[in-house]
Amino acid sequence: MTIQITINGNPCSSEAGESVLTIARREGVEIPAFCHDETLAPYGACRMCLVDVVSGPKKGVTTACTLQAMDGLEIITDTPEILRLRKVLLELYLAQAPKSKTIKALAAQHGIKKTRFAKKVHPEDPLQGQCILCGLCVRVCRDIMGAGAISYIGRGQFTEINTPFYEENDACLGCGACAQVCPTQAIAFEDITGTRVMKSWSETKVPLKQCAACGNYFAPVPFTAYAYEKLDPAIRDEIRDLCPDCRRKEMTRKAILLRAEGVGR
Ligand code: SF4
Ligand code: FES
Repeated sequence: MTIQITINGNPCSSEAGESVLTIARREGVEIPAFCHDETLAPYGACRMCLVDVVSGPKKGVTTACTLQAMDGLEIITDTPEILRLRKVLLELYLAQAPKSKTIKALAAQHGIKKTRFAKKVHPEDPLQGQCILCGLCVRVCRDIMGAGAISYIGRGQFTEINTPFYEENDACLGCGACAQVCPTQAIAFEDITGTRVMKSWSETKVPLKQCAACGNYFAPVPFTAYAYEKLDPAIRDEIRDLCPDCRRKEMTRKAILLRAEGVGR
């Protein structure tokens, strides 16, 4: 069902139940958001997407990612109070992740250059002093990839994200989905001849699959096993062990041969 909501005085059409953050992004209204990804359920952890509901069943400040659109809802994204709260949050994130360029840039956009809060000390931090504990990596690994290789460790100011007991974890598929969703690019991994080393995750080592045709390493073995099992229709046996480039070449070669056979008849 199509409904109407109002963002900063402008009417917007949407589907009932869509999140206000999704609608705002579609309409080109900028709302900062760190813990939201369209592939995951709304979480409401980072609080960056605060907006003010001025007309609706529950007025006041709330998170746009968890706020569902309903007919007649009116919100404002940049009241003085919202801007004040956003600045305080950015100061907190500057303290939590003092090395994050993403946080520094957003803070600077809001006129914040330093923080009043004590900066977290990260001796030999595998997340490079850039993690804001948004939880996206944990959720994508668990809820989308089904691996659950990483989780929250410790409590309060000592909370961190890593593998259980900081040990290499063979549940890791090496897919890198965690790094893709991380809003601060905190997660590091590297491919070193035949092995993907998840540097941020206790140096977990994942073997890479070698292309049967060109010999290049192209994807983590456990990830290809996971992906091939899910493909429907299933990947054909003759291209299973080929890298994407060689797969394309093989399919083109087959198509040319088939055409040539047709022409010859
Ligand atoms: S590593 Fe990145 S995605 Fe994971 S919690 Fe930290 S900031 Fe979020
Ligand atoms: S994006 Fe809404 S609370 Fe994090």
